[in-house]
Amino acid sequence: MPGFWYGGDYSPEQWPPAVWEEDDALMRQAGVNTATVGVFAWSTLEPAEGTYDFTWLDRTLDRLHANGVRVILATPTASPPPWFSLAHPDALPVTPEGTQRWHGSRDTYCAAAPAYREAAKRVTAALGERYAEHPAVAMWHVHNEYGTPCYCEHVAAAFRCWLRARYDGDLAALNDAWYTRFWSQGYRTWDEILPPRDTQYLPNPAHAVDFARFWSDELLAAYREQRDILRGHTPDTPITTNFMLPDGYQMLDFWRWSAEVDVVAIDHYLNATGVAGTIDVAFGADRARSFNRNRPWLLMEQAVSTMWPGHGEMVTAKEPGRLLRDSLAYVARGSDSVLAFQWRASRGGSELHHAAMVPHAGADTRVFREVAALGRTLSGLDEIVGSTVRASVAILWDADTRWALELPVTPSRHLRYVPALRDTHAALWRAGAVADFARYEDDLSRYAVVFAPSAYLLSPAAAKSLASYVEGGGHLVLGCFSGVVDERYQAWLGGFPGGLLEALGVRVEEFHPLAPGQTVALTDGATGQLWSEDLATHGAEVLAGYRGGVLDGKPAITRHTHGEGTGWYVSTFLNEGSTDRLVRRVLDAAGVRPELPGAPEGVEAVRRHGSDGRSWLFLFNHTDNTATVPAHGRELLTGAHIEGALRLAPLEVAVIRETRPPEVN
Ligand code: GAL
Repeated sequence: MPGFWYGGDYSPEQWPPAVWEEDDALMRQAGVNTATVGVFAWSTLEPAEGTYDFTWLDRTLDRLHANGVRVILATPTASPPPWFSLAHPDALPVTPEGTQRWHGSRDTYCAAAPAYREAAKRVTAALGERYAEHPAVAMWHVHNEYGTPCYCEHVAAAFRCWLRARYDGDLAALNDAWYTRFWSQGYRTWDEILPPRDTQYLPNPAHAVDFARFWSDELLAAYREQRDILRGHTPDTPITTNFMLPDGYQMLDFWRWSAEVDVVAIDHYLNATGVAGTIDVAFGADRARSFNRNRPWLLMEQAVSTMWPGHGEMVTAKEPGRLLRDSLAYVARGSDSVLAFQWRASRGGSELHHAAMVPHAGADTRVFREVAALGRTLSGLDEIVGSTVRASVAILWDADTRWALELPVTPSRHLRYVPALRDTHAALWRAGAVADFARYEDDLSRYAVVFAPSAYLLSPAAAKSLASYVEGGGHLVLGCFSGVVDERYQAWLGGFPGGLLEALGVRVEEFHPLAPGQTVALTDGATGQLWSEDLATHGAEVLAGYRGGVLDGKPAITRHTHGEGTGWYVSTFLNEGSTDRLVRRVLDAAGVRPELPGAPEGVEAVRRHGSDGRSWLFLFNHTDNTATVPAHGRELLTGAHIEGALRLAPLEVAVIRETRPPEVN
């Protein structure tokens, strides 16, 4: 089936058959061609251990297939039924404080518990066997948003096993790596090691980061078991699981996971309204595309209305037109799908107030009309499916650093990893440059500029990769508090950023965190916040110094020529305006042009490129004014022929099949 995958999570098991008929009709009306089925349906599918009821699922798959809707069939393992937890209380998750959680919600299981793993494999095998030949099944969706943590005895045992492998069975090596002479933590046997449960005072950070690595791997092992069972039944059907990208939920090392799925699929719920929400869309989409190694990826869930700007306190309904803009913004950045949670709003249950494509009020609603219009729009864009996005700048994304910076042992708990990355990404968005995310071990030389906003945890290998990137001609922009600890969470000795003193031509001696709201002035007019550092240059040119305060007169922003390239160092967090100025200066120095030179301020421009040399320019006017944008080609939403300039009304979107090859960076 060609075209974008359009639709959402579909739970017919929650509704009587009369509603199914309406679903069929409304899906046709909305141009829905994809339904994700079965995500939390375990108790319906397996009402008692080993007893399966497939009748509703058989009918659903047949019905959807007859209606021209492909199915992403999920394994239901994110929500074990009550009979399971009562029979296997040891498979219930335990908090760091030792409290066992009970069933009554979802995601209440311990992924390391043998009983859970066996039950998950059984139900997966039953699904694989029954639906291997079903023509509706286009993709498998294993589980849902892996992430539930646990600290029980099963986890302790699995953690020890993982540690033995990591340290080659050498307990002395673990004691060294964890620096266990500090606070009398020396381990004499592997069995003495616990998960990082609630303890008296500060945790050992090396222990905590190893546990985070382990838990990501343990969940991955659970995913792989299901994947391999399904692969055995349907070797040619793609298999994935959905990553949850918002900031507070980072249990997984997405790079490692991405290598194990056939296509990266993300769930993305906006954390902000207005343009900040738009930038959040770009942040999620750019990560998903990068995790999928720049191939088209899947937006598996979004909310057709509602955002969570109030951090869980209240939702805000998306304004009219936003669904189209956001959906095309994911597509512009490489998604080949627009899928939502969920098709029909649940009548009851914990998420009865969640937005849906068919709201409680029915099809005669603004939301459903927008949903149907979006379906029509997407069906006119089929030719774009499979094309890719090109970026000439990258931001480093590192799971270890993210975990390391979250621990309460750093000099300031206001210094956070994801916000630091977001700031850099947002500045690039405002500068009109599309950014990839990358890993230290990638071939960074394909990027003209690499930003590492806070490379706090830097292994010698990672530092070497960055240094060679600069030597080879790249522009590295390293943010403050970088190269501070290595992969064992032990400080680099001799000055920071460890492993990069030569490439950067600077040496940081001491940190001076700033209180929230406190700022520091720089000699070039910039403003720093949250953080400052006492550094000396060793060959680097000073672009700006600190003005006033204890660091008065000392360097703040530096630039150093090293080999063929340039190492920039920024020893504070610049405020928005100052970040924008610096980012534009670096892009200029590296010869990186915006995606669409000449695009007016507030107009977002992103391109997808076909393998046959065709390109499609997506334009979004995020301002309240009509904008005139340079463009040549056929506008696919209206069919208009554009010769030289396109007028975009406030908040309007356009997709242009270009007749002139884009200028390449
Ligand atoms: C996702 C989840 C969905 C639904 C949604 C609500 O995390 O996969 O099932 O709960 O959030 O926003």
